[in-house]
Amino acid sequence: MSSSHTDLSKRHSEKPVFSAEKMAEVQVLFAQYPEGKSKSALIRVLHMAEEEFGGWLSIETMDYVAEVFNIQPIEVYEVATFYTMFNLEPTGKYVFEVCRTGPCMLLGSDSIIDYIGTKLDIKVGETSADGMFTLKTSECLGACGYAPMLQCGKKYHEHLTKERVDEIITAYRAGQTPN
Ligand code: FES
Repeated sequence: MSSSHTDLSKRHSEKPVFSAEKMAEVQVLFAQYPEGKSKSALIRVLHMAEEEFGGWLSIETMDYVAEVFNIQPIEVYEVATFYTMFNLEPTGKYVFEVCRTGPCMLLGSDSIIDYIGTKLDIKVGETSADGMFTLKTSECLGACGYAPMLQCGKKYHEHLTKERVDEIITAYRAGQTPN
């Protein structure tokens, strides 16, 4: 199990560098912003960096992104550490981000978080021993009408119950994307 706090000592063993294709995408993105305003693309590029470099942002990755933008590393750290959607240490194959804001909390998100934690034998911020699942919490994900809910990658799982959580975990374990 990983620690429940962020461990910034974890490293990529080699300097991360975007593939030529990914760098071309970055350049297309930069071209959409006025001269000197490309920093506005930072969140998009951090998502691209997560995709490219194993699903998380190491110090080396953030330093590399700073190089790409020609800005100070601290300008990248302050964005990457502000948003809970960015992973600052390695995660499981599937990351469950359970919304815990008002509407979801009123409809039972706390018990869903507890249930997932017990089922996978992890606390919030930890990864299951088999490396399959990481449990995180999130502020409102904009699906309050379907509470309680969680996000896993680009997929929203809504109207969660313990039975529904069982189905979702079983499907991911089987390599399927649950409905
Ligand atoms: S409060 Fe959970 S999605 Fe909005």
